[in-house]
Amino acid sequence: MRGVKIVGTGMCMPKYILTNEELSSFIDTSDEWIAQRTGIRQRRIVTDENTIDLSVKAAKEATEGIDPLEIDLIIVGTVSPHQVIPSVACSVQAQLGATNAMAFDISAACSGFIYGSKIAVEAIRCGSAKKALVIGAEVLSKVVDWSDRGTCILFGDGAGAVLYEQTDVNKILAFDVGSNGMLGQTLSLENQAQNNPLIKNEYSPSFIKMDGRAVYRFAVNVVPISIKKALEKAQVNIDEIKLFVLHQANERIISSVAKNLNVDLNLFFKNLDKYGNTSGASIPIALHEAKSNLKNGDKIVLTGFGGGLTWGSIVVQW
Ligand code: COA
Repeated sequence: MRGVKIVGTGMCMPKYILTNEELSSFIDTSDEWIAQRTGIRQRRIVTDENTIDLSVKAAKEATEGIDPLEIDLIIVGTVSPHQVIPSVACSVQAQLGATNAMAFDISAACSGFIYGSKIAVEAIRCGSAKKALVIGAEVLSKVVDWSDRGTCILFGDGAGAVLYEQTDVNKILAFDVGSNGMLGQTLSLENQAQNNPLIKNEYSPSFIKMDGRAVYRFAVNVVPISIKKALEKAQVNIDEIKLFVLHQANERIISSVAKNLNVDLNLFFKNLDKYGNTSGASIPIALHEAKSNLKNGDKIVLTGFGGGLTWGSIVVQW
């Protein structure tokens, strides 16, 4: 079977920094409450950028030095696309000039990057692509209810990108992915209401709704299981893992996972204090920031979890 490796990463964050202090000026909350419950201190939110702009910049960095015509596949994991048609992925394709690529978006919320990576890696393994670009990109600030202090404090905007390439020596060691639609309503974002000549609806915008405690319980339960399953498939011992790059939702979730796995918390990368929860974008952003500390051959784990409910882990050799 063909091997796959990561050959490039990139990220792009909006310029505007919204601190907990500034949030506290228009919503009943405090830096202390947010930092204690989540670890988040600030997040980036768009002022004049959109999901496509962020994706294109992250993609350009991940594909630097690569002829865009060699990119066969572009997948964007997003639940906050700038528009539904054309997809963010097709807009990125156009701006990169990657005219040979098949391009589409997927909806798997905070697992979007992991799900997109599975599709991309399997496309490379079966020979239908040689280079595949996977982007996680979100502008959650437009789908957050800014009057709901239980959710608006958590989320941020941003994009990250990873370029996968076919190789002789395989570096993508295993995946574990799963979904549980039965728990879907614990974290939801409704689409437009039905509207046709027979059903007339008033337009009302919809926002992210969440049962925070239920999502927390789901995450701390499913993430260790997923990591163990992926490691077992990869036949890699947990002691061999140099870095765990988890979806950056909440510092307490990361600490609980480290404790459950009996792994030193220092092996878990964190940047959620700066960016908050950027959903599908958080893992490629974190990987891009973490990579300067990785050496060739290091084994790492990437794990996403969130809306759907969905989850997934990848064991990667750097
Ligand atoms: N500032 C101040 N107080 C707040 C607040 C805020 N931003 N948000 C909620 N509160 C209050 C509540 O009103 C409640 O007050 P009450 O006791 O007087 O009723 C109290 O704090 C506790 O609220 P609760 O929602 O039970 O808090 P919590 O300990 O569960 O923390 C989350 C809330 C959202 C931080 C936590 O549930 C969480 O992180 N869940 C996981 C969410 C997540 O990561 N989602 C994305 C996954 S991809």
